[in-house]
Amino acid sequence: MVQKDKFTFVEAALARRTENQQLRSLQPVEPIDAVQVIQHGCRQINFSSNDYLGLAKHPALIAAAQQYTAHYGTSASASRLVTGTYEIHQQLEAKLAAACGQEAALLFSSGFQANSTVLPALLNRHAVVLCDRLVHSSLIQGILASDARLIRYGHGNLRQLEHHLEAVSSASYSRILIVTETVFSMDGDQTDVSALIQLAQRYNAILYLDDAHGLGVLGQGGMGLAAHQSVDLTVGTFGKAFGAFGAFVACSQKLRDYLINCCPGFIYTTALPPAVLGSIDAALSLMPQLEAERQKLMQQAETLRTQLQQMGFDTGASTTQIIPLIVGAEDKTLRLSQWLATQGILATAIRPPTVAPGTARIRLALSACHTPDHLAHLIHSLKTWHG
Ligand SMILES: Cc1ncc(COP(=O)(O)O)c(C=O)c1O
Repeated sequence: MVQKDKFTFVEAALARRTENQQLRSLQPVEPIDAVQVIQHGCRQINFSSNDYLGLAKHPALIAAAQQYTAHYGTSASASRLVTGTYEIHQQLEAKLAAACGQEAALLFSSGFQANSTVLPALLNRHAVVLCDRLVHSSLIQGILASDARLIRYGHGNLRQLEHHLEAVSSASYSRILIVTETVFSMDGDQTDVSALIQLAQRYNAILYLDDAHGLGVLGQGGMGLAAHQSVDLTVGTFGKAFGAFGAFVACSQKLRDYLINCCPGFIYTTALPPAVLGSIDAALSLMPQLEAERQKLMQQAETLRTQLQQMGFDTGASTTQIIPLIVGAEDKTLRLSQWLATQGILATAIRPPTVAPGTARIRLALSACHTPDHLAHLIHSLKTWHG
């Protein structure tokens, strides 16, 4: 029977979240520069942004966005298969494919959009997906939107993955997909891409890698850990190190043709707007020149990680610019985040369900624009915290 108050479920869900200290709300910020923002009227050093190279305010990206807008207007005004494909979409796709060492590339509206729509396009109810336990929600949404069988293997446990591959390869599945991330968004650890390629080849599986946090900071020319490798399909996002917005898939020409024809999230949506294409293109042109920034970023991350570990913090298996401070309890994590805010540091608490229960954390995301003073201030603030 329909309930009298048709929104009881909303109230119940919000009450549950409040009770479990999991209620989230939006906290606006105003960016000042690559690593500083104003929040609630106070200047904060931002340790929670994914602008790893500080490109979001780079003059070249801003100029390109303005030029493309002046020339092509503010919208593509149609989906790609109607009249939304401009020469700048195709040129950018060709440039991306070349930079990644893949045959082809195809733009998507966002990383979430790409994962949640490309995966169901590759799967059907006769397929099986082997997926790392800690992958991003967008990958899970994509898999669940298909009727494929989902098997999750232990985080980074390629032995377990192989064990599953052995079992499913002798069953009668139409195809096997391996789905994982190159750099894990909440842990900052890396996948062994070469080992995955070998496994995919041995078991004739399709290898699908989400390189959202590797793109821009790792790999040849900064094009991510999956670039120039025998990966069947890589998703890269532009809202992080590229300082822009949107996403792309790098793959074979045939797979690109297939997605253009069979992927609803590509077909039935408005093409990326000119301003966004301009900033992505400018970031892509800058990428090969940013080796010093990438090195600085990784060195600063290494130094900070060592200091945090010496102070007794659990930084998990991080080896990249993403460093979790795994606190465990949600209320304690929130208190730490609030304490840091009083010290002028913006470091957001990440809680379940984004991360596993009991692993609430502060996710520190470094930028090449953080200075030694910023890092020293973070360390000092953590030292003076009495949790
Ligand atoms: C691993 C991973 N994939 C995909 C996404 C989604 O990308 P976008 O922000 O472009 O939607 C994110 C970002 O939150 C991510 O961390």
